[in-house]
Amino acid sequence: MQQSKVTVVGSANVDLVIRAERMPTKGETLIGETFDIFTGGKGFNQATAAARLGAEVTLIGRIGADPFADILRSAIESEHIDSRFVKTDVESGTGIATIVVEPDGDNSIIVVPRANMRLTPKDITDAADSIAEADVLLLQLETPIETSQTAINIAKANDTIVILDPAPARPLPPSLLAQVDILTPNATEAALLSGHAVNTLEAAIVTAETLQTQIATDGLSAVVLTLGEQGVLLRTPTESEHIPALSVDAVDTTGAGDAFSGALATALANGNELSEAVRFAVAAGAAAVTVLGATPSMPTREKIEAILAKSC
Ligand code: RIB
Repeated sequence: MQQSKVTVVGSANVDLVIRAERMPTKGETLIGETFDIFTGGKGFNQATAAARLGAEVTLIGRIGADPFADILRSAIESEHIDSRFVKTDVESGTGIATIVVEPDGDNSIIVVPRANMRLTPKDITDAADSIAEADVLLLQLETPIETSQTAINIAKANDTIVILDPAPARPLPPSLLAQVDILTPNATEAALLSGHAVNTLEAAIVTAETLQTQIATDGLSAVVLTLGEQGVLLRTPTESEHIPALSVDAVDTTGAGDAFSGALATALANGNELSEAVRFAVAAGAAAVTVLGATPSMPTREKIEAILAKSC
């Protein structure tokens, strides 16, 4: 069988991760517990998730010309991700994220995108074939919006499914949303994009419905609203489905959304039905929270299947 193809346009960062008993208050110096350097960035995490799940993955992005870039280059290679379109930007540093993880697994992140925000429409047109030939194009919002728009235009002209993870939350041009086949916001992102608060399940249903009318109508046309412990709402033109969360012991929630998106993209690229693909993605997100670090937590198929089997 031909391997399914996923192309990711997105960020690659190095994550500086501190585990601490709590976040410091303003003006306070706190002693942390551990420090690690991991690879990350929503784009690279999602590319890794898809690659670990068996997809043929191409990453389109920019990193700097610094020691952080070396860490990323070797990780991209060891995950067998096609790096032909990961450009080295000599005028900028590699993207960095500082992350604090609290004992319950919750995290706080500051990202300095640096080279990621210098990804140009030309970088995309240079890689046009990899988008046109892909089953799925996966994007997030840690790279410039006009660059994402260029990639989406190529995907739509070639019947490549467009999945947008609108993270971190930013306003989006309606014309871009109108070309997205599957939108996967969390509650904060959905509230920003729709103008509706998402504080109850009922409100989430209305918001998912509103957003679904704003995306493309010529393909799968689905909103997958992720609600953490409340699970996921799947809204298509004809129905709403609530898929409950799976319970696991949380170590670090960083990257759970990326595992979700990468797994969703891979399952759809493999030809799975939408609802089945979302259940697989929910299990991937659950698997990711059991491991410290973003990229390190992207799960294997075996791990996802074990979680799904336990939930039956
Ligand atoms: O989604 C988690 C990711 O967000 C981290 O790896 C960090 O780099 C930021 O991009």
